[in-house]
Amino acid sequence: MTPPIEGFSKLSKEEKIDWIAARFTDNSEETKKTLKRYWNQDEQLQQLHDEFIENTISNYYLPLGIAPNFLINGKVYAIPMAIEESSVVAAASKAAKFWLERGGFKAEVLGTEKIGQVHFTYGGEADQLEAFAGRVIPIMKKDVADLTAKMEKRGGGVCSIELRDKRRELEDYFQLHCTFETADAMGANFINSCLEQFAQTLEREARHDTQIEEDKLEVIMSILSNYVPNCLVRAEVSCKIEELDEHDNISPEQFAEKMVQAVAIAKAEPYRAVTHNKGIMNGIDSVVLATGNDFRAVEAGIHAYASKDGSYTSLTHASIENGIFRYWIEIPLALGTVGGLTGLHPMVRLSLDILQKPSAKELMQIAAVAGLAQNFAALRSLVTTGIQQGHMKMHLLNILNQLKASTPEKTAIVQLFRDRQVTHRAVAEALEKLRSAS
Ligand code: MEV
Repeated sequence: MTPPIEGFSKLSKEEKIDWIAARFTDNSEETKKTLKRYWNQDEQLQQLHDEFIENTISNYYLPLGIAPNFLINGKVYAIPMAIEESSVVAAASKAAKFWLERGGFKAEVLGTEKIGQVHFTYGGEADQLEAFAGRVIPIMKKDVADLTAKMEKRGGGVCSIELRDKRRELEDYFQLHCTFETADAMGANFINSCLEQFAQTLEREARHDTQIEEDKLEVIMSILSNYVPNCLVRAEVSCKIEELDEHDNISPEQFAEKMVQAVAIAKAEPYRAVTHNKGIMNGIDSVVLATGNDFRAVEAGIHAYASKDGSYTSLTHASIENGIFRYWIEIPLALGTVGGLTGLHPMVRLSLDILQKPSAKELMQIAAVAGLAQNFAALRSLVTTGIQQGHMKMHLLNILNQLKASTPEKTAIVQLFRDRQVTHRAVAEALEKLRSAS
């Protein structure tokens, strides 16, 4: 067994690689070669990436693709998407083109409120605490004046601080439930800094306040919440049913009804809802990643929202009314277009440029549209041809790469499988035949 190491973070990058390669891989020379092959030639750029996190040994690539022709609120976007799954960008592009010809996407931000909490316990009388909160909250607001000055200039700041009695959930548990506006920033650092100051003020004032039992108050922690049900965006498409006319072997009416039914199943059945929403996240996460936002925060918040009524359900909705097919999504999304990685990572800056430097609100709309488009594309395949046809076609190049096909072999096999069903076995056999014929 390899013994644990002391002070790994203090080793140089080369030393870290040597240690890892020798102790944990079978072929240490090959490991070192692979890790170094992914270093950027530009030393400054590599250093920038090295310094994003601790113990960097190399870079991890994901493809950055473009889904063009997204008409959103009358403006055409080419959406950058960072994702490894082969069919996602193709599906988004197809859905974008479909709706481009039918009026495009309409999107609207319904709210931008962010939330953070100071969690603490108080073992004394709740009335005392309530009166104390009335005295201390104005002081808390004053104490963060330096932290909030810049944010206030940008139209953000602290909106409210409210004492909440949570003793029904947990013994002696109270919280300060705080709301914020963070303009074009995602705002995590701003919110956490404010919350930590609120906590310090709470403890300091408790020490001086004769009406409160200071020894019975204990701050446990202060942190933003990634559940942001009031930071909400809605995106929608609609058209006359007869315009849903691009499918073989199924009438527009049947297609519309099957789509509505497919959404109804995802609303009723959590096993289906999870996969349905996973498809939505294919679109959202890839935009969130490309624009340097925190996809873990977005994922956590969106899935919590999908369960807000007590059981996990679909994030999209569909209806047929008066001959109109309507398809929409409503999701919480806390995104930023300033701060964090947005000004630092060259590919993030580029992605934001391609999106024509959106505000945070615009980016919320774009990401929601990408999620809706992805879900529409997935359901459209599922209720017509099935998902594998398109999926495996896009997967063909991955199979060929696994089989180490050369460029001319790839061209020949892609041509061959234009109207054949793609399976790993069929591709391997065709490649073998091609190789033995030449
Ligand atoms: C695959 O990444 C996503 C789908 O499974 C989504 C869905 O089933 O709706 C195709």
